[in-house]
Amino acid sequence: MLNDTGSAFYKRHFLTLKDYTPAEILTLVELADAFRKNKKAPVRKPATGCEGMNIALIFEKTSTRTRCSFEVAAHDLGMNVTYLDPTSSQIGKKESIKDTARVMGRMFDGIEYRGYGQEIVEELAKYAGVPVWNGLTNEYHPTQMLADILTIKDNFGSLKGITLAYMGDARYNTGNSLMIVCSKLGLNFVCCAPKKYWPDPALIKQCEEYASASGAKIKFTEDIMEGSRDAQVIYTDVWVSMGEPDYIWAERIHDLEPYRVTMDVMKNAAMDAIFLHCLPSFHDLKTTTGKKISEKFGINEMEVTDEVFESEYSRVFDEAENRMHTIKAVMYATLTGKTTVS
Ligand code: CP
Ligand code: NVA
Repeated sequence: MLNDTGSAFYKRHFLTLKDYTPAEILTLVELADAFRKNKKAPVRKPATGCEGMNIALIFEKTSTRTRCSFEVAAHDLGMNVTYLDPTSSQIGKKESIKDTARVMGRMFDGIEYRGYGQEIVEELAKYAGVPVWNGLTNEYHPTQMLADILTIKDNFGSLKGITLAYMGDARYNTGNSLMIVCSKLGLNFVCCAPKKYWPDPALIKQCEEYASASGAKIKFTEDIMEGSRDAQVIYTDVWVSMGEPDYIWAERIHDLEPYRVTMDVMKNAAMDAIFLHCLPSFHDLKTTTGKKISEKFGINEMEVTDEVFESEYSRVFDEAENRMHTIKAVMYATLTGKTTVS
């Protein structure tokens, strides 16, 4: 629906890609591409319209990419940033989300939220009166999807008909969101995981409706070779997500170890296949968690082997960079209503 600026994006929340049409998603990806070209140009052209605005970043879970992307993108757009870390605000403990939204909405032009249930970011959006951007909830990770789609487009030139195979825990934020974005944009989505890690049936049904409109195919399999065969994109994520209890590691390792992305998986994929991961990733022993898990369970790599992570197949650092360009596009479009860079 258009508003008084004539833009479908102006003052709009960005909470899940279920709320955005395929054309709108592609507009944001193209806008991100324009911002990327602008940033890499010999003389950067300033983007106009956001200068002097103030945004807040609320993180109830930790982050490297998402936080840095919002901060750098905001600074590039001439905005000021206030960061609230997982421990330093009253949110949830001494003040409700509804009250927080009504306070922060008086001070800021836009608010990013990373945290737990999707209902929290929905509540924030309901009462803030300014655009709210979902920087990851248990259920969805929509800004990650724009970066993933931009990266896929960079590698294959087109999106329709590309097959993305997701291996691992497919019923959490990244798996759910990939199924949504692929089915909306006409990419085939293969969920390659033990059945108990497949997405919620209601979401699958909804995505099947998106797929029937876009021409995408959605497939579910427990068979690793069948799932990865001829896929252009092999995607995985951590086996235990932020906020999940430590005791779950044993069960996840038992269930998901066969679904580790190995060279055999990549060789079974399409000739021109790429490997994507939202990151952070446990592909070696250079993290404290990686070391702890190795000592306890005797495994040296988790969802992806170090060999694949460091291989020619891997586009994970392009993907990480694209977080910043795509987040810039989301903030710019929803704060100004504009979808082109001057
Ligand atoms: N991919 C992603 O969201 O990374 P961070 O957790 O570092 O923000
Ligand atoms: N599923 C992961 C994604 C991290 C970007 C998590 O929620 O921790």
